Amino acid sequence: MRPCKIRLSRAALQHNFALIKAYAPQCRIWAVVKANAYGHGLRFAAETLADRADGFAVACVEEAESLRALGLAQPILLLEGLFSPQEAQTARSLQLELVIHRYEQLQWLVECDADYPWRLWVKLDTGMHRLGFAWSDSKVLIQRLRKLLPRAQVHALSHLACADEENDRFTPIQIERFERATVPWAAQRSLANTAGLIRYPNSHYDWVRPGIGLYGATDLLRQRQAVMHFLSEVIAIKQVGAGEGVGYGLDWVAGRPSILAVVAAGYGDGYPRHTASGTPVWLAGATAPIVGRVSMDMLCVDITDHPARDGIQPGESVELWGDQVSVTLVAQQAGTIAYELLCAITERVHREES
Ligand SMILES: Cc1ncc(COP(=O)(O)O)c(C=O)c1O
Repeated sequence: MRPCKIRLSRAALQHNFALIKAYAPQCRIWAVVKANAYGHGLRFAAETLADRADGFAVACVEEAESLRALGLAQPILLLEGLFSPQEAQTARSLQLELVIHRYEQLQWLVECDADYPWRLWVKLDTGMHRLGFAWSDSKVLIQRLRKLLPRAQVHALSHLACADEENDRFTPIQIERFERATVPWAAQRSLANTAGLIRYPNSHYDWVRPGIGLYGATDLLRQRQAVMHFLSEVIAIKQVGAGEGVGYGLDWVAGRPSILAVVAAGYGDGYPRHTASGTPVWLAGATAPIVGRVSMDMLCVDITDHPARDGIQPGESVELWGDQVSVTLVAQQAGTIAYELLCAITERVHREES
């Protein structure tokens, strides 16, 4: 069996949840489990948080159906609402809470059942300019909504564009706009993602919506634990002479006689191909840098300076990311973000849950 696997920790997910809860103890928590729980597995995440999360937030009806099939009775929020009128009936029978970001979505609900007490989250565009109604139009919008769906519960939601940026000056502007646009009509309000809830207590409102923090993949959450450990093994040891190139294109050239460990992990598993030489992996109690291009099934690690190099043999376990090497670091080295790496683990990678 190929040794490449992810090991998922329930205890770490629950630990991170508790850290997040401590930031916003008075709030309810939508655990964001869209995109297969950021690659961790929808069932794994939902079952682990079933007795903790107040609700689950997903991106589509299919994900919501999977949650209901697991027997979860908590509120489920569709973050982008309905994609087509046909989904309205399913949303109703699954008792979903729906984001409304354009008028057609309201019309679909009217056509399905104008007298049903739909639970709606009006999405306001407070400056991100992705989804939602202009925040400054909220008054007219709500009047219209109330006429169309007189029995709907109406809540308000917006999304922060810059809360995790180092020199963020925009979040306070979004908070102020949200505040102005949602008083007095919104029954409940939700604005904060992980970065918002950690950095801006005044963005908390009634419900917070953490995703990446739950999975322990943001440096903002100190004391976090990695939920996903991406692991494999050494499958060969190679000696290369000074001046010899390594891997496709012979991109990396040994500056001295070197010892390489070849690891069974590559972009065919979700380890990013563009990861820079020098990015650490963890093996035999210390880090060592990857060298040369990452290929589909393998990557090479320079263990010449590793304190335990003479003991490293095929079969040695390697952590590609996890508690020793953070996924945020690997993402940085690959020119991307941890979210993308977590979502990109491929089918063939084995899964272990603990
Ligand atoms: C609407 C919405 N809310 C909340 C989240 C969770 O954000 P994060 O993972 O940064 O906590 C996301 C994630 O993309 C989102 O799209």
